[in-house]
Amino acid sequence: MARAGARYSDDWHRAHLYNPRNVVPESKMPAYPWLAANPVDSRHTATKLRAMRTLGVPYSDADIAGAADSVKGKSEMDALVAYLQVLGTAIKNKR
Ligand code: HEM
Repeated sequence: MARAGARYSDDWHRAHLYNPRNVVPESKMPAYPWLAANPVDSRHTATKLRAMRTLGVPYSDADIAGAADSVKGKSEMDALVAYLQVLGTAIKNKR
């Protein structure tokens, strides 16, 4: 899971999160269909980026200024898939 990024397509992740049985018939993973219906709450996005910057994540002032706009119209499913797709992609040693 720590290296899930870029291993599957966005569509695979969406289908799998919506109902894992649609892509892995024997899957025991619970379904998370509501993520597709829930919009991202953009009110605290800039604050979260600022907090992450204090921990060393190199967000620029422009990233923070545009944070709320960048998640407009996105669902929690979009946000989770974007997160899954970067997992493990910063490491240099590939399998
Ligand atoms: C929001 C929470 C979750 C996310 C984002 C998530 C995401 C994923 C992803 C990306 C994979 C593919 C991993 C890979 O092949 O490297 C996967 C597979 C799997 N996950 Fe989850 N998962 C979640 C919760 C759970 C939970 C609670 C269970 C426990 C029952 C679970 C059980 C499994 C199993 C058994 C697989 C193997 C493939 C399958 O059977 O579908 N997952 N999950």
